[in-house]
Amino acid sequence: MNLRFILCCALSLSVGHCNARKCTTRRTTGYPTSTSTSVSSAAPTCSAAPSTLHLKSSPYENYFISDCHSSGQVVVTSPAEGDDFTVIAPRLLFAWPAGNSGAALLFVPDNGINGSLTIEAVNSSTGTPLGPIYNPAPAGAKNQNASYGISTHVSLNSTARLNVAILGSIRTIRDYVEGPSILRPEIQSALKFEENKDGGVTISRLWLDNTTTTTVVFSPASDNIKAKVNNQSVTFAAGTWAVNASFNYPQPTQLGDKQVLQPESYNLIERNATLVESLAFLSYTDKLLAGAWRFLTYFGRDSMIATLLMEPVLSQGKGGAIEAVIAAVLDRVNSSDGSVCHEETIGDYSTWQNLRESIPSTAPQCDYKMIDTDFYLPILMNQYFVLNPNGSARTSEFMKTGVTFFPKDANLTYGDMALKTAERIMEKAAPFASNQSIANLIHLKDGQSVGQWRDSGSGLGGGRIPFDVNTALVPAALRAIGSLSRHGFFNHSDWKETADAYAKVWEDKTLDFFTVTVPESDAKDLLKAYVNASSFAGSDQSGSIDGDVDFYALALDGSNDQAKVKVMHSDTSFRLFLVNGTDDAQLSAFLNDTAKSIVRTFPAGLLTDVGMLVANPAFTGVASDAKTFATNAYHGTVVWGWQLAMMARGLELQMSRCGGNSGSASAAPPAFCGDKAVYNNVVAAYNKLWDVIEANSEHLSNEVWSWTYGDNKFKYIELGALPPPPGSNPVESDIVQLWSLTFLAVKRNGKFRDS
Ligand SMILES: *[C@@H]1O[C@H](CO)[C@@H](O)[C@H](O)[C@H]1NC(C)=O
Ligand SMILES: *[C@@H]1O[C@H](CO)[C@@H](O)[C@H](O)[C@H]1NC(C)=O
Ligand SMILES: *[C@@H]1O[C@H](CO)[C@@H](O)[C@H](O)[C@H]1NC(C)=O
Ligand SMILES: *[C@@H]1O[C@H](CO)[C@@H](O)[C@H](O)[C@H]1NC(C)=O
Ligand SMILES: *[C@@H]1O[C@H](CO)[C@@H](O)[C@H](O)[C@H]1NC(C)=O
Ligand SMILES: *[C@@H]1O[C@H](CO)[C@@H](O)[C@H](O)[C@H]1NC(C)=O
Ligand SMILES: *[C@@H]1O[C@H](CO)[C@@H](O)[C@H](O)[C@H]1NC(C)=O
Ligand SMILES: *[C@@H]1O[C@H](CO)[C@@H](O)[C@H](O)[C@H]1NC(C)=O
Ligand SMILES: *[C@@H]1O[C@H](CO)[C@@H](O)[C@H](O)[C@H]1NC(C)=O
Ligand SMILES: *[C@@H]1O[C@H](CO)[C@@H](O)[C@H](O)[C@H]1NC(C)=O
Ligand SMILES: *[C@@H]1O[C@H](CO)[C@@H](O)[C@H](O)[C@H]1NC(C)=O
Ligand SMILES: *[C@@H]1O[C@H](CO)[C@@H](O)[C@H](O)[C@H]1NC(C)=O
Repeated sequence: MNLRFILCCALSLSVGHCNARKCTTRRTTGYPTSTSTSVSSAAPTCSAAPSTLHLKSSPYENYFISDCHSSGQVVVTSPAEGDDFTVIAPRLLFAWPAGNSGAALLFVPDNGINGSLTIEAVNSSTGTPLGPIYNPAPAGAKNQNASYGISTHVSLNSTARLNVAILGSIRTIRDYVEGPSILRPEIQSALKFEENKDGGVTISRLWLDNTTTTTVVFSPASDNIKAKVNNQSVTFAAGTWAVNASFNYPQPTQLGDKQVLQPESYNLIERNATLVESLAFLSYTDKLLAGAWRFLTYFGRDSMIATLLMEPVLSQGKGGAIEAVIAAVLDRVNSSDGSVCHEETIGDYSTWQNLRESIPSTAPQCDYKMIDTDFYLPILMNQYFVLNPNGSARTSEFMKTGVTFFPKDANLTYGDMALKTAERIMEKAAPFASNQSIANLIHLKDGQSVGQWRDSGSGLGGGRIPFDVNTALVPAALRAIGSLSRHGFFNHSDWKETADAYAKVWEDKTLDFFTVTVPESDAKDLLKAYVNASSFAGSDQSGSIDGDVDFYALALDGSNDQAKVKVMHSDTSFRLFLVNGTDDAQLSAFLNDTAKSIVRTFPAGLLTDVGMLVANPAFTGVASDAKTFATNAYHGTVVWGWQLAMMARGLELQMSRCGGNSGSASAAPPAFCGDKAVYNNVVAAYNKLWDVIEANSEHLSNEVWSWTYGDNKFKYIELGALPPPPGSNPVESDIVQLWSLTFLAVKRNGKFRDS
C-alpha cells in the first residue's frame, strides 16, 4: 500500500500557509522573555475559513477540520482491490476531542459481495470535503448547549446497508473495532432511526448523561435517492449523500499553530505545515491529546514523552503547550498515593463506567495501572521549571494553581500533587538503593500484564520487570527530584542529597540484571531457526555476526520461567535519552551493544528499510516468540515513529558528552569518547538510523507501522492492513500521533555525520 500525505486547505495554498487560524486568539507581545504575557483570553471571532487537513493512508482517508468553535476528524475507509475484506470494510467515522466522542457507521454492500462498495467523501457546497457545524444555543434558552459538528458529502457507488452504528464515545467505538465486535445493549438500545421527508434518515442517540445527543443526518444530494430504515439498519441508494454529524457538548479550546509553537519555531508553520497542523489539532489549553482518532484524549505517558522530545519548539509560559501538558498531568494525580494518571475516561464512557458501579454520575475517571508514568513527571518538571528559564520564572505562580479535574481534590494545588508523586517515587526507589536485589526492582502491578509503553498483552513477552522503567526512568526521575529539591521544590531538604545518592545506585546497578550474551555460534543457529519459525523471506543475516551478541533483556521474569525476556529492543533509547551513566566500563559496553543492535539488519539487529524495529525475538530461542512478536503485533517486529526520534536524540546526547569538535560537554568526557571502536559504532548507528528515518519521512507521523518482505527489501505496510494475530482484532494505527510529531524538534546533527 502506498501512503501519501496530502495537505489541503480551505484557503488556497498560494495565499500562504493554510493554517491561518484567524478565529483563534493570539499572543500579544514579547513572548517568551516576558513572564507576564500569556495567550489572550479575549473571545474568539470566527471570521476565517476553518483550517483543514487531508491525510491519506490507504485504505484510510483522514480529514481534519478546526475552527474557533470545535475541531473534529473524519475517517473514510473504502476497501480497494488487494485489501483483506475481512479486515477492511466500508466505514464512515467521526471523531471529536470534546468528551473523546465520535460516531462510527459501518456499511456493507447490499449485494453481499465484499469489495463492491466504494465510499468517498467529496467536495460540496458545505465542505471541501468537511465543513463545520455550529448551532449556538438559541438566545434565551438557558437550558440548551450549543451543538457542534461536521458537515460533509459522501458518495456511495452501489447500494449500501448501514449495519452497525455506534454513537457516543470513541471508547465504545474502539471496544467494537478492537473488542472484538462488542456492542453494548445499554448503548445501542438508545439509537433512534427516523426516515425524513426529503428521503434521508436521522440516526441519533441520547447519551447516558440524559443531556447530550449525538445526531447524524443523511440527506439526499443526488436526485431521486432514498434511504430506508429497516429496524436497526438502513439501506442507502447509490449516490451522493449530505451527512451532518453533530452533538451538543462543551468543546475544549484549541491552541492554534502560533499558540502551540515557540515564536522561534514559527518557521515550521510553513516548512512542516502538515505536522504543525497535526500538532495543533491535538493541542488544547487544558491538555494535549495522544492521537487521532483512537486516542483523542489525555494520556500521561504520551504527552510527557512528546513534550520532553519537542520541548525546544513547544510554546512556553502561561497558556503555552508545555504548561498545558504538566497541568493536565498534575490535575489527574491520584491524591491518595501520588500515582500519575495514564488515561482519562471522560464523556459518555465515564457515565457508562459509573453506571456499571450503580453511580448515576458523569464524573471522569483515571486509569492508574501503569508503573512508568509517575517517573516522567519530575523529569519533565525539572526540564521545564529548572533547566528552562521561561519555566523557572513561572514556578511559583504555576505551583499555586488549584487542581480542577476531580471535585474531591479541589483544595489541592499543583505543588501538592507534584509532591505526592515525588514522595511516591522516593519511597519506591529506596529499597533498591539499599539492597540491589531483583525483588527490589520495580515490577508491574499485581494482576496487570502491562505497565509501560508496550501496553499490549504480549508487549513485554510476559516480563514483569521492564528494562525502560528500571534502567532509565527511575534513575532519571531521581536525578530530577534531586535537582528540583535544590531549586526550592518539595520541602524535603534531605532529598537534595538522598535523591542523587539513590539515582547513582539505580544508574550503576540495574543494567547488569538485564545483560544477555549469546555466543557467536549459538547466535547464528538461533537466526537460522528464527527464519524457519517465522517464515521470514529475507536473509537470516548470520553473516553480520562477528562475535558474541550482547544486548539487554526487554524485561525480567518472563513467561515460561524465562528469567530474562531475551528480546532485542529499542528501549535502550530511554537510557540514552534520559541517563548519562558515569560508570565508564558499563557505559562503553552499553553504547557499543546498543549501536550494534541498530546497525545490524533484522533479524541480526533492529534495522530494516522501513525503520528500526522496536522488538526482535530472534535470539530468545523460544519458537512461539516468532508469532508473539510478529509483524502484525502492536509491539512486535514493527516500527514506532517516536522510538526513532528518541533513539536518534539519545545517541546524539551521548555523543555530545564527548565535547571537542563534536559537541559541548561540561564534565570530563566519558571513556567511550576515546575508544575508537565504540565511538565509531555509535556514530555509525546514528547515521544509519538517520538514513532510514529520512528514507521514511512520509511515514514518520504515524503511530506505528509494519512491513512485508519482497524484492530483497522490507516494504512499508499499514499495521491495520495486516491480518491480526489469531484471537485478536486488527489494530488500526492512528494517522496522527502526538509523540510521532517529535521530528519537528529532533533533527539530524551534521556534526556527527560519518565520513
Ligand atoms: C465479507 O466480509 C465480512 C467481514 O467484513 C465477512 O464476515 C464475510 O464472510 C465476507 N463475505 C464474503 C462473501 O466473503
Ligand atoms: C464500486 O467500486 C468498486 C471498487 O472499485 C467496484 O468493484 C464496483 O464495481 C463499483 N460498483 C459499481 C456499481 O460501479
Ligand atoms: C476538494 O477541495 C480541496 C480544497 O479546495 C481541494 O484541494 C481538493 O483537490 C478537492 N478535491 C477534489 C476531488 O476536487
Ligand atoms: C448540515 O449542516 C450544514 C452546515 O451547517 C447546513 O447548511 C445544512 O442545512 C445542514 N443540513 C441538515 C439536513 O441539517
Ligand atoms: C451542557 O453541557 C454540560 C456538560 O455536558 C452539562 O453539564 C449541562 O447540563 C449541559 N446543559 C444543558 C442544558 O444541556
Ligand atoms: C430488530 O432488531 C432487533 C435487534 O437486532 C431484533 O431483536 C428484532 O427482532 C428485530 N425486529 C424486527 C422486526 O426485525
Ligand atoms: C488512588 O490510590 C489509592 C491508594 O493507593 C487507591 O486505593 C485508589 O484506588 C486509587 N484510585 C484509583 C482511581 O485508582
Ligand atoms: C438518566 O436518566 C435515567 C432515567 O431517569 C436514570 O436512571 C439515570 O440515572 C440518569 N443518568 C444520570 C447520569 O443521571
Ligand atoms: C476545602 O477547604 C475548605 C476550607 O478549609 C473546606 O470547608 C472544604 O470542605 C474543603 N473542600 C474539600 C473538597 O475538601
Ligand atoms: C565494541 O565493539 C567492537 C566490535 O564492533 C569490539 O571490537 C570492541 O571490543 C567493543 N568494545 C567494547 C568496549 O565493548
Ligand atoms: C547528558 O549529557 C548531554 C551532553 O552534555 C546533555 O546535553 C544532557 O542534558 C545530559 N543529560 C542528562 C540527563 O543529564
Ligand atoms: C520539515 O521541512 C523541512 C524543509 O522542507 C524538511 O527538510 C524536513 O524533513 C521536514 N521535517 C519533517 C519532520 O518532516
